[in-house]
Amino acid sequence: MQRSKIAGIGYYVPKNVYTNTDLSRFMETSDEWIQERTGIKERRFADRLGETTTTMGIEAAKIAIERAGITAQDVDFIIFATLSPDYYFPGCGVLLQREMKMKEIGALDIRNQCSGFVYALSVADQFIKTGMYKNILVVGSEKHSFAMDFETRSRNVSVIFGDGAGAVVLQPTQKEGQGILSTHLHSDGADAELLAMFYPGSNANKWLKDKPGYPDQELGGLFMTAEQLEGGAALPYMDGPAVFKKAVVKFPEVINEALKANNLTAADIDLLVPHQANLRISQYVQQLLGLPDEKVFNNIQKYGNTTAASVPIALCEAWESGKVKEGDLVCLAAFGSGFTWASALIRW
Ligand code: UT7
Repeated sequence: MQRSKIAGIGYYVPKNVYTNTDLSRFMETSDEWIQERTGIKERRFADRLGETTTTMGIEAAKIAIERAGITAQDVDFIIFATLSPDYYFPGCGVLLQREMKMKEIGALDIRNQCSGFVYALSVADQFIKTGMYKNILVVGSEKHSFAMDFETRSRNVSVIFGDGAGAVVLQPTQKEGQGILSTHLHSDGADAELLAMFYPGSNANKWLKDKPGYPDQELGGLFMTAEQLEGGAALPYMDGPAVFKKAVVKFPEVINEALKANNLTAADIDLLVPHQANLRISQYVQQLLGLPDEKVFNNIQKYGNTTAASVPIALCEAWESGKVKEGDLVCLAAFGSGFTWASALIRW
């Protein structure tokens, strides 16, 4: 069967560095609290006006495309994962297609939050396996800073997340044993509201009915009322401890599922690249799998949690620093809002 390989990889992070101490200028928090609970030391925030989720995705894509030895014109399908798109619609995929002057190829946007990149990689893998496409651009990019609240009421969310983008080009491989061995995708919507942004949304009618400012009419409605907007309704909500408890179960579960599907064990992994949710989550998973420090890649200390971008940024940094070599077994794993979780095993 035709397997797919990562032929090129790139990442981009904005230049603006915000340390934990910088954040403590805006809200009641401290470097000590953030480092102890999350491992994060600093994160990058995009320029408020000049940079968007799409522009950062493009910067990462340019590098991935060049390293794959192709041009933007050779890309035959785009998959763009983000939870922080430039527009409510259309998605970032078409904006990237336009700005990179690509052909009139298909562009698919994926909304699977922290698992978005691994989901996107899985979709791309299927298209390569069937022979439908030869050069798929997969992007994960986030501009969280534009929608976060930097007041104390939201400190559990806003100290964690950062901006950035990562991208890969997937191509068919002819080399025996090489490529994506398998991908594993899961979801459980039972706790969908534990990590979510409710507004703007088409379910708003239900929540807003009988609230001040809601129009009394037979048809139509509002994504949110002006009062709600002022009160912070369009801000992300997270029950951190609940997410944490689920993550530490589902990360190892989906990694073990991938290993089992390929008759491998944790000892066979050369590098685990987990979604950078919280350093404590990664360390717990590492401990459970019995992996030494050098086999788990973490860079949350520098970038925070960049959601759909975190896996490709980490994978790219690992590759650039020589931690991923030809023949290595690389495991990607992610967990996040939905809840959704996913893994991929790759023979590099
Ligand atoms: O990307 C995938 C999705 N996200 C995750 O995987 C995140 C998973 N969850 C977490 O990483 C952790 O739950 C957090 C880092 C978000 C929070 O850490 P925690 O140890 O679970 O803290 P907590 O939410 O239970 O809060 C403990 C205390 C509270 O104070 P009280 O009520 O005990 O007085 C919070 O108000 O810490 C307080 N707190 C803060 N204090 C200083 C919450 N955020 C902060 C903050 N600075 N930034």
